[in-house]
Amino acid sequence: MNKIKIGILGLGNVGRGVLKILNTNKEEIQKRSGYDIEIAKILVRDIDKNRGIDVQKEILTVNPDDILEDDSIKIVIEVIGGVHPAKEYILKAMKNKKHVVTANKMLLATEGDALYDAAEEEGVMFYYEASVAGGIPIIHAINESLTANKIEQLIGIINGTTNYILTKMTLEKMNFKDALKEAQNKGFAEADPTSDIEAYDAMYKLAILSSLSFGTKINVDDIYREGITKIEPIDIEFAREFGYIIKLIAIVKETETGLEMRVHPAMIPERHPLASVNDSFNAIFIKGNAVGDIMLYGRGAGDLPTGSAVVADIISILRGSVDVSAISTVKKNFWDRKINSMDKTRSEYYVRITVKDLPGVLGEISMIFGNEGVSLLSVMQKGKREECVTVVYFTHLANEGMINSAIEKIKNSKYTKSVDNIIRIENIQ
Ligand code: HSE
Repeated sequence: MNKIKIGILGLGNVGRGVLKILNTNKEEIQKRSGYDIEIAKILVRDIDKNRGIDVQKEILTVNPDDILEDDSIKIVIEVIGGVHPAKEYILKAMKNKKHVVTANKMLLATEGDALYDAAEEEGVMFYYEASVAGGIPIIHAINESLTANKIEQLIGIINGTTNYILTKMTLEKMNFKDALKEAQNKGFAEADPTSDIEAYDAMYKLAILSSLSFGTKINVDDIYREGITKIEPIDIEFAREFGYIIKLIAIVKETETGLEMRVHPAMIPERHPLASVNDSFNAIFIKGNAVGDIMLYGRGAGDLPTGSAVVADIISILRGSVDVSAISTVKKNFWDRKINSMDKTRSEYYVRITVKDLPGVLGEISMIFGNEGVSLLSVMQKGKREECVTVVYFTHLANEGMINSAIEKIKNSKYTKSVDNIIRIENIQ
C-alpha cells in the first residue's frame, strides 16, 4: 500500500471531523484512494488544549512551517478559516508543490483568483468542495456533473443557522431573538452571529457558486445582501395566509440586463421543494438548459458533513481522477459578464406598513404604488379600531427601483406611521 503524508492547518470543528472520518473509514478510504493516509502534523494554536478527540500530542505543532516546509508532506488541508493567514499558508504550500484542500469560503470568494493562479503556476491540485454547503457535493456537481449545461438559475438555502432560526419562527412561532438564542445554545450560531444572520456567510458562498456556474469572476460587492434580522412573526403569518414560507435565499440567474446575484429573505411558495427544507439543512435548486431542474439537499455544516467533503477532496487528489487543470481551466476561461444593478431586479413584493386608520388612507397609498407603475395584487388591513393599523400590500412583478421610489413616497405620506418591512416574493416553480 502506498503511503501519503498530509498536514492539517487547524483543529477546530472541521479539522476534528476530518480526523474522525479518516479514522472511522480508514479501510474504505484506503481501498478507494489506493493510499494509506498518515496525518503527519496538525497546526494548532495551543498544544495543551483539550479537544475532546484522541490525537497524539507529538503531531501537534504551533509552527506552520513544520507543515508548509516539510517536503515529505504532499497534501495540505486548510481548515483554519478567515482570509489571513490562511491565504499566505496556502500560497506557501502551493509554492512548495503541495496539493491543497480548503473549506474556506471567505478566502475563496475574495481571493480565489490568486489561489487558482498559484495552483496553476505550481502545477498542484486545489480543491474546495467543503467551502459551500458543507457535505452537499455542489462544487463537484457544478464543475463536473453539470458541466455540459448552460446553468440558467441557481437558487438555494445555503446558510443552516438562518434556516434553523426561520424554521423555529415558522413552525414554533418563536420570535427572532428567542430563535437565535436557541440556535446559539444548539451550537449552530456563533456567539457573534453577525456573519450568519446578516447573510455574509451566504454571500461568500453565493459568490463561489455564481463564479463556477456562470464562468466569471465575481466581486462580492456586486452581490446584494440582506439578513434576516427584520423578519417578525407577523410577516411569517401573512406569508402563510398567502401560501408562502419565508426563507433566506441565495439566487443567481442570467437576465437580459446581466447576471443577477442576491441574498435576502424571500417568500417562496409553500409547495416548492425548497419551502420544506427545514432546521439547519441546506438545499440548492439548479436549472440547467439540458438537465432541467435538480435539487441537492443535505447538511451544510457540522464536523462530519463538512469533513466528508474535505476527505472526498483528499481522495480525489490521491486518485488524480480529476486533473487540477480542469479547475484551473475553468478559471482561465472565465469571461466577463455584465452584472445587473439591483434597481433593475424584478420581483413581486410584500410591503407591510403602519398607517393611520382614516378615510382615504388605503386609496392614497395604493395611488402612490400605481403612480410609480407598481401594480397591486392584494391588500389586507389588520387592526381593531385603533388609531393606527397594519396594512400589507402584495404587488405584481415590479422593478426594485419602482418599489423603492414608491416606498420613499409612502414614508413621506401624512398617513404613514412607519414602513415596517419589505420582503421579496420569489414565485419559483
Ligand atoms: N455558519 C454556516 C451555516 C456554516 O450556518 O450554514 C458554515 O458555513
